[in-house]
Amino acid sequence: MSIETTRKKVRTVVFPVAGLGTRFLPATKVIPKEMLTVVDKPLIQYAVEEAREAGIEHFVFVTGRGKGAMEDHFDLAFELDATLQARNKLAEIELLKESRLLPGTSSFVRQQEPLGLGHAVWCARDIVGDNPFAVILPDDLVHAEKGCLAQMVEAYEQVGGNIVAVENVPREDVYRYGVLSPGAEKGALVEVKGLVEKPKVEEAPSTLSIIGRYILQPGIFSILEKGQRGAGGEIQLTDGMAQLIGGAPFHGLRFDGTRYDCGDKVGFLHANVAYGLARPDIAAKFGPALKGFLAGKL
Ligand code: UTP
Repeated sequence: MSIETTRKKVRTVVFPVAGLGTRFLPATKVIPKEMLTVVDKPLIQYAVEEAREAGIEHFVFVTGRGKGAMEDHFDLAFELDATLQARNKLAEIELLKESRLLPGTSSFVRQQEPLGLGHAVWCARDIVGDNPFAVILPDDLVHAEKGCLAQMVEAYEQVGGNIVAVENVPREDVYRYGVLSPGAEKGALVEVKGLVEKPKVEEAPSTLSIIGRYILQPGIFSILEKGQRGAGGEIQLTDGMAQLIGGAPFHGLRFDGTRYDCGDKVGFLHANVAYGLARPDIAAKFGPALKGFLAGKL
């Protein structure tokens, strides 16, 4: 891989959204997990907006059976649009516009079998081609002044190579994450010396863990192609990334912002409260109601 490739602009994002979402059954029996809403917007739309803010131009969705609602969500809703136009509902028309992707800027590819996150990313190889690309897991929602991916793109423009968003998690939780062996630190960037997926608590090299944001070089595809199984018998992205270390630069970015794990019920409820309180149109009523609830008055 040439140096030029490791510095090329990041134009494409991959959303691996083929998972089964079993932790949210029965909600996810028919509705994709990524269509669950935080306040009034589906998780996948937050992810698309974060990518747009970071300058991304093409959006790749790696889906599976039963995930068609996402494709419809980003399409033109012709009848609804026409009805709102006829009723002169300007604010609602604007909301629909924000949820559209322009023709030709999105691709949908099927993973067919949920063989793991690494396999899902590999399914996007033909569309990404020989270019660096971003990956966003929509169930990790990051509340931040500047979007998490925009922060990563800014860092990428300085150092190139591969970048993962990282944060410290409680030691007892490391077994759920990809964990770093950290090297030298420079500002918010941490050199990645090693990576291990879902380590045992007593064996984790640190508590610095990867959240669902990545900028990767296309060299990852030939590694994932081998289909090596890792933790849980799945083809793990972390194991593939570990094999990139030593080539192009590889950094963790301690991003500014708060992450909510919306793949988990408690994290999802937490996000709804936080995003509700951050919305001026909702906080005025919701804030006092929540206070009353916590004081045992409701
Ligand atoms: P999760 O570990 O959260 O799995 O995947 P899941 O199936 O979505 O949810 P649970 O655990 O059954 O409740 C993390 C991300 O990786 C994607 C998921 O869609 C999610 O965005 N993924 C995972 C795939 O696209 N394909 C896979 O084979 C596995």
